[in-house]
Amino acid sequence: MSPYAARRARLAAGMAPGAVAVLATAPEALRNGDSEYPYRHDSYFYYLSGFTEPESVLVLVAAKGDAPARSILFCREKNVERETWDGFRHGPAAAREAFGFDEAYPIAELDARMARLLADVPALYYANAHSAAFDAQVAGWIKTVRAQSRSGVVAPARIEHLLPLLDEMRLLKDASEQALMAKSADIAGAAHLRAMRAAKPGMFEYEIEAELLYAFRKSGAQFPAYTPIVASGANACILHYNANNAQTKDGDLVLIDAGCEFDSYASDITRTFPVNGRFSAPQKTLYELVLRAQEAALAAIVPGRPYSDFHDAAVRVLAEGMLELGLLDKARFGSVENVLAERAHTQFYMHGTGHWLGLDVHDAGAYRDLSLADKPSRPLLAGMALTVEPGIYVRPAPGVPEQFWNIGIRVEDDVIVGVGDNGGARVLTGAAPKTVAEIEALMGA
Ligand code: GLY
Ligand code: MN
Ligand code: MN
Repeated sequence: MSPYAARRARLAAGMAPGAVAVLATAPEALRNGDSEYPYRHDSYFYYLSGFTEPESVLVLVAAKGDAPARSILFCREKNVERETWDGFRHGPAAAREAFGFDEAYPIAELDARMARLLADVPALYYANAHSAAFDAQVAGWIKTVRAQSRSGVVAPARIEHLLPLLDEMRLLKDASEQALMAKSADIAGAAHLRAMRAAKPGMFEYEIEAELLYAFRKSGAQFPAYTPIVASGANACILHYNANNAQTKDGDLVLIDAGCEFDSYASDITRTFPVNGRFSAPQKTLYELVLRAQEAALAAIVPGRPYSDFHDAAVRVLAEGMLELGLLDKARFGSVENVLAERAHTQFYMHGTGHWLGLDVHDAGAYRDLSLADKPSRPLLAGMALTVEPGIYVRPAPGVPEQFWNIGIRVEDDVIVGVGDNGGARVLTGAAPKTVAEIEALMGA
């Protein structure tokens, strides 16, 4: 059984007997004029189908009594003329065969068939409030079923939100997902290596970006997972900088946050390095502080420990460093506890230390146990995938030692919980050099 079929079976097994789930893929989107954005399927739809064509809808019917669960695809029909312009499409018969659905029909039959599929079922699961157009379409089906009430047909009594069920499933990466994530991380790590090798003072940020994009595509990644950040000098202190149009200067650090999407799975890596190949003393001091924060965070990624622990571990190391280096006034704060209580560290470290990673770069899944009243941070489980990305960003300000001004550093790796040595985190992104010695050796070569 394919991983997609296994997921469909698992979802259907968790639904009420005889209930129906319906999930549409993403619409195509016009960019300008006659030109479309590159098409990207919906991640939830893909997770259950493996099917990448637009204008597709997946329907699952849960088992009831002797009737087994069924999966039904609606997709575009074969069309020689359209395929001459736009390329291959499976059509229902070939899609059913290739992707292991029980039934497949032309998308044009969706409305008529849904009105029948929703007759006399106890519940409908769908992604409500995800798309206004799809909400209206679902409402239309239900109205059609209700209109038949005089002949004894009953519309679904319950409408359930589908995505939370899928969010929980997507949190735990199965073996096929872990392999794809490792591949995505390998490609992105090699791209960072290539960019570091190519970087020289005087290059424009976009020239370095071009090295990344070349490496992604050359290795078969279909897209960048998000717009790459290539930020030199003070630009590194702008968290979502992606203009990438400045000229690098001798003495700058370059912060690159870039990952690719390989067979729908994202990687998300940040490296920061001196464009001239050697860290200055203040750059090295801050860089090694961020690395120590990352080490502390990685050590806290252990099954059973709450998600929030690795962020807390990184923040503590960073806050200690801020006091020691005079970024924060020791006389005023006294202790790390006071820094944390006043959140004074957020002047230089204002973001979280990670997020779930998978089909989406900020992947699906709750960060808290929503079943408990106080919604505590949820315990990590083996197979969860996340990023570990501490940083430090020093904007000029009164009282801040001038030697650190305009230095922005982040180091970001991708890990899978509980499948590394001794049950710890498995780091997927080791291909990209990280220590001062590794980076200087590479860039000096
Ligand atoms: N590149 C997006 C992030 O690091 O979260
Ligand atoms: Mn990230
Ligand atoms: Mn990132």
